[in-house]
Amino acid sequence: MKIWLIGAYGIVSTTAMAGAKAIEKGIVEKTGLVTALEPFKQIDAMIPFNFEFGGHEIRSLPNAFVALQEHWEQNRHFEFQILNAVRTDLERVVAKKGTALNCGSGIRELGKIETLEDEGLSLREIVERIENDLKEFADKETVVVNVASTEPIPKFSEKYHGSLEGFEEMLDKDAKDFATASMLYAYSALKLKLPYANFTPSVGSSIPALKELAREKNVPHAGNDGKTGETLVKTTLAPMFAYRNLEVVGWMSYNILGDYDGKVLSAKDNRESKIVSKDKVLEKALGYSPFSITEIEFFPSLFDNKTAFDFIHFKGFLGKLMKFYFIWDAIDAIVASPLVLDIARLLLLARKKEIGGVVKELAFFFKSPMDCDIVNTHEQFLMLKKWFDQLAKA
Ligand SMILES: NC(=O)c1ccc[n+]([C@@H]2O[C@H](COP(=O)([O-])OP(=O)(O)OC[C@H]3O[C@@H](n4cnc5c(N)ncnc54)[C@H](O)[C@@H]3O)[C@@H](O)[C@H]2O)c1
Repeated sequence: MKIWLIGAYGIVSTTAMAGAKAIEKGIVEKTGLVTALEPFKQIDAMIPFNFEFGGHEIRSLPNAFVALQEHWEQNRHFEFQILNAVRTDLERVVAKKGTALNCGSGIRELGKIETLEDEGLSLREIVERIENDLKEFADKETVVVNVASTEPIPKFSEKYHGSLEGFEEMLDKDAKDFATASMLYAYSALKLKLPYANFTPSVGSSIPALKELAREKNVPHAGNDGKTGETLVKTTLAPMFAYRNLEVVGWMSYNILGDYDGKVLSAKDNRESKIVSKDKVLEKALGYSPFSITEIEFFPSLFDNKTAFDFIHFKGFLGKLMKFYFIWDAIDAIVASPLVLDIARLLLLARKKEIGGVVKELAFFFKSPMDCDIVNTHEQFLMLKKWFDQLAKA
């Protein structure tokens, strides 16, 4: 299958490419891939583990290997032997120029960028360029995944985002203030009937207009924001307090990270989308809202080593207050990139089985699952297994 990555030179994208190629060559195991677990084994017969990559970018680098090497020098996130082994595969991946429309002030932290809007293109022309790039690359087994930097929360416009007709009008009128890059990529993918996943907190395909487009074209899509670190632990642990009738009275989550992702998130407007995405889960997992603090700060020397410090204050029998602390210390791209491959394979399976619209059964992979209030990781996993079983039998 083919995967088109928006943000192709980022650390999650390049690690996903390197990991996929290293697994194909048999030099590493499939640890970290959910689809390699026993309940999903049948997927290998339906969607073989074999990938071709392409994508859009706004940083102009010669190819994905140069980007991977840059990330590797800062993070050493896998053995040197793997870097060498995947070199020629990643050198072949040369991203197309993308759009960064309304991507916020944080985008400046990426250094020199080149975008389609810099060429003075209208919204219609930007979309046309994106669609042409996709058409040139895609076949019937292609999935688009957004792994670009997090955008700020856009101002919602009922007129332009509320219906597909309104969205088309926004494009016709070149109403650039209302469009964001992630919407334009999602629109282009869905219009071409390519399954689309949003691994970021950006708006992507989650506005009513694009959900309508996905339903109309009968193409599957899923998001938002990969659930990989602190939120994964939070939504796995919070149910434990609920099951034992222990009242969570306060939960503090303090995240620090470096790298480009951390730099972009150090801009207030970009950070806000991430905090909203992380913050909503507690209420959904517990059924009430404890006092909560969620912070994300840029910490340059950590690079991609994201560290989360959590403090939970909870009440037990006889009203006694007790404390629970945890520290999550992981390489963000190592926990995120296998999920990109999992999500792409599962969305392609959905497409093959003619499923269209939001695939809420993929909630397991996301912090803010679209159209799904289940945030409990255990329940999400069971839901995913059941869905997969039904699909595999169909
Ligand atoms: N790593 C994780 O565990 C994790 C978890 C959940 C979500 N995410 C999200 O995934 C995204 C990627 O994370 P990362 O660590 O790879 O970040 P990164 O900064 O390394 O990569 C982002 C890439 O996207 C490019 N880019 C930015 N805006 C673009 C645009 N409009 N069009 C095309 N390319 C664009 C950047 O130049 C960069 O190469 C972020 O939004 C992050 O919040 C990551």
